[in-house]
Amino acid sequence: MYSIHTSRAGDLESLSALDIISKSKESLGFKQRQQKPKGAQKKEPVRNREKVKIGNLQNNIYMAEKVLKIGIVGYGHLGRFLVERILNEGGEVGLQLAFVWNRNTDKLKDSLPKELILHDLSDFTKRATDVIVEVCHPLIVKEFGVRFLSHANFLVGSPSALSDPQLEQDLRAAAKQHAKTLYVPSGALWGGQDIQKMNDSGTLQALSIRMSKHPSCFRLTRGLLSHWTEGEGRRVLYNGSVAELCPIAPNNVNTMAAAAIAASKLGFHGVTGEIVSDTALADYHLVEVEVTGPDGFSVKTVRQNPAKLGAVTGNATYNSFWSSLLEVQSARVTEGECISAESNGLLQKEHK
Ligand SMILES: NC(=O)c1ccc[n+]([C@@H]2O[C@H](COP(=O)([O-])OP(=O)(O)OC[C@H]3O[C@@H](n4cnc5c(N)ncnc54)[C@H](O)[C@@H]3O)[C@@H](O)[C@H]2O)c1
Repeated sequence: MYSIHTSRAGDLESLSALDIISKSKESLGFKQRQQKPKGAQKKEPVRNREKVKIGNLQNNIYMAEKVLKIGIVGYGHLGRFLVERILNEGGEVGLQLAFVWNRNTDKLKDSLPKELILHDLSDFTKRATDVIVEVCHPLIVKEFGVRFLSHANFLVGSPSALSDPQLEQDLRAAAKQHAKTLYVPSGALWGGQDIQKMNDSGTLQALSIRMSKHPSCFRLTRGLLSHWTEGEGRRVLYNGSVAELCPIAPNNVNTMAAAAIAASKLGFHGVTGEIVSDTALADYHLVEVEVTGPDGFSVKTVRQNPAKLGAVTGNATYNSFWSSLLEVQSARVTEGECISAESNGLLQKEHK
């Protein structure tokens, strides 16, 4: 687990989340429960109802000061998972739903209290919200991202949207102007912190990522995969820059987008992406990362990501998003300091 934070807009630094936790439990706003000496009198229960347990770190329990209000934008696989988890466990971890929006409101009616349903997304400003979580489509990031940041912190679930340099610049500027934070989760990227370190030290020479999935898992905007048959095997659909690939496969290459952000000196144009359709991959997605440095240095990783047939999101990513929300909750109690992490990837934070 690790995190990346910004000390000032545009500059990224990486930190081990464990380092942060061990260095600054108190400064993070957590209050450690004192060990009771044997025979000591029973303490008064905590009366401040706003304080909630947010985690059990190395067997010590820490308390968050306030509840974080979350707006969920999108009610597909990820959105539904996050909503259910906040409804079931939010009270214990300091998270509360501010609103849920989906383009088809009918999907929400049976599973949510009506006061949580937002019918018109433009009405998000009428709800007190700390963090808006986009889990639907990059187009929503483009249309609403800047407005979201004028009102709340913003976790971009579809970072492929940031392959548009103008949009990335606009989001950074909005975060700065409104003193809000833009969070970018890494999804299925493995080794993002190491990529980031090499990037920062100027030793990252090349980065390429191949994502292979069953054809039913691809959502492509061009006819790269208009016809396929079960059993046809492996087909390379695209190989080239991640900048060009993101608009072609906006829902499938968020991991590559996160890598391009970590490798900021190469950027979306300098990082190579390949997508492969493979009918043998009915049970999992494959993510292969190849990093190249000086004097023959190279690292290759292969991540096997169990996934349901037809799903754009691997199973592990659900918990990863949940971990991100918990880390955002931790970050919130830290004025001026940034901490954010995922159990299996980076969560990057842009400007506070
Ligand atoms: N950051 C990451 O690592 C990561 C990992 C997995 C998925 N994602 C992204 O998160 C998003 C949600 O993933 P999911 O698994 O829940 O997908 P999903 O397909 O199950 O759900 C997407 C939801 O968004 C809605 N939607 C689609 N296009 C829309 C549009 N143009 N405007 C408004 N709503 C729209 C759909 O109706 C659906 O309800 C996707 O963009 C996906 O690419 C990111």
